[in-house]
This record gives sequence, structure tokens and C-alpha cells, in this order.
Amino acid sequence: MRIIFNGYALLACTAMLGLALTGNTLAADTKKLVEACGDCHGKNGASTEKDIPIIGGYSAEFFKIRLTEYRNKETECPETKIRSGSKKGQKSDMCKITQDMSDADIKQIGKYFSEQKFVRAKQTANAALAKKGKEIHEENCEKCHSEGGTVASDDVGITAGQWIPYLIEAMKEFDSGKRPIAKKMKLKLEKLNQDEKDALIQYYGSFK
Ligand code: HEC
Ligand code: HEC
Repeated sequence: MRIIFNGYALLACTAMLGLALTGNTLAADTKKLVEACGDCHGKNGASTEKDIPIIGGYSAEFFKIRLTEYRNKETECPETKIRSGSKKGQKSDMCKITQDMSDADIKQIGKYFSEQKFVRAKQTANAALAKKGKEIHEENCEKCHSEGGTVASDDVGITAGQWIPYLIEAMKEFDSGKRPIAKKMKLKLEKLNQDEKDALIQYYGSFK
């Protein structure tokens, strides 16, 4: 009896050790994968750079969609400068950043950032335009970007509280056809003029 008991105890011990080791290895891998992101997207994805999107708090599914698009070069990858860290000032882009990522890496990165908080940009929007934008949003965009674009689980990003300069850029990428777009969203955007698009962006930027 005693020997069997000890055997079980040893087994349990090894199992626990194994778990602890796996836990540590995963954490180290994730840390390595997300470390470089912070040099542009800020701490935990809460970008303080106006032209770089806030990514902390997006859904893991949205990460999968976007990072795969960049990796496959199916979307525009504007070149930009690394903003902080040891490579500060060097040029890079999202296609280069994702080119060696495996699907498993993408999954891990998505999980990490989806567990962070979306910290809204500290910026001032044009109140009159934002009011107009709210109406246009409710009529055309709310169906997929629900509650003003605040809901991560819609898997379309979070537009509410995103940086206005980044949103202007994103809209240009859709308009130019360089970024893949849901067919139904394309139809909605096509019937809007530039003033209406500007109003929508001010509305998203007005979330505090
Ligand atoms: C050199 C600076 C830089 C680094 C480093 C960087 N990014 Fe980016 N990232 C950008 C820029 C700029 C954009 C906007 C590009 C565009 O217009 O499509 C972006 C866009 C994104 C988007 C799309 C956001 C959206 O709202 O559609 C995701 C997701 C993303 N980055 C994740 C990451 C992850 C994860 C890492 C680290 C592995 C990372 N980025 C590293 C600059 C960077
Ligand atoms: C049929 C659903 C649908 C509708 C309607 C829709 N969208 Fe989208 N939207 C999406 C999807 C899906 C994405 C993610 C696209 C991708 O893979 O990059 C997206 C992404 C976006 C983004 C980029 C977010 C980011 O972080 O990069 C903006 C901006 C946007 N939509 C604005 C709008 C506006 C403005 C309207 C209304 C005029 C609208 N959308 C209507 C589905 C929709």
C-alpha cells in the first residue's frame, strides 16, 4: 500500500512540475513575441502614437484576421519608424513584422492582447461633426460595429476611442481598395461622401 501511495505521490508531483514548466515556457514565448510590439503600439497595446492603432483589448479573432492579412501581404503595410526601444528610429512595417509568424504564434499574440484593456486615445474630436457622425453610424455601421464600435467580440476591431489619424488612414486604405473589406461594408462606404466619412471618424474619436 505504502509503495503504491508513494508512486502516486511521485506521479502527482511530476504532473505538477510538468504543468509549472509548461506554464513558464508559454509565458516566456508570449513575452518574446509581444515584446517588439510595444516599441510601436505602446505598453500592452495602448498606443500613445496618433498614427499607430491601439490594439490592446481587440478580440483574438480580429488579431487572427489582421495578422494573417499582413503576413500574406493581402493588405497595405505602410512603412513607419519604430518609436521606442533599442531599435528606435529604424523603419519597419506590419508585413515584415508578421512574415515569420506561425499560426500558433498569432494565436498566442491574439490571446495576450485580447486580455489587455483597450485604453481610449486622449484626443479632442469636433463635437458638431461627431453628432452628425453618430447618426450616420447608427444608420450604416451599427449592425456590425455595435454600440458605437465599442464591442471587441464583434471581431471588427474597436473604432470607439481609436486614434483619429489612424482611422483616417484606415478609411483611405479601404477607399483605395488596398485593404480587404466586407462586401456589405463596402456597399455602405460607397454611398457616403468624404464629409460623411470625416463625421464618422470624429464620432469614433469622440469616445472618452
Ligand atoms: C514599426 C512599428 C510597429 C511595430 C513594431 C508593430 N506594429 Fe502593428 N501596426 C503598426 C502600424 C503603423 C499599423 C497600422 C498599419 C495599417 O495602416 O494597416 C499597425 C497595425 C497593426 C494591427 C491592425 C490594427 C487594426 O486596427 O486593424 C495589428 C493587429 C497589429 N499592428 C499588431 C501588432 C503586433 C501583434 C505587433 C508585434 C508582434 C506589432 N503590431 C508591431 C506599427 C507597428
Ligand atoms: C457587414 C458588416 C460591416 C458593416 C455594415 C460595416 N463594417 Fe466596418 N468592418 C467590418 C469588418 C469585418 C471589419 C474588419 C475588416 C478587416 O478584416 O480588416 C471592419 C473594419 C472597419 C474599420 C477598421 C477598424 C480598424 O481598427 O482597423 C473601420 C474604420 C470601419 N470598419 C468602419 C466602418 C464604417 C464607418 C461603417 C459604416 C459606414 C462600417 N464600417 C460598416 C464589417 C462591417
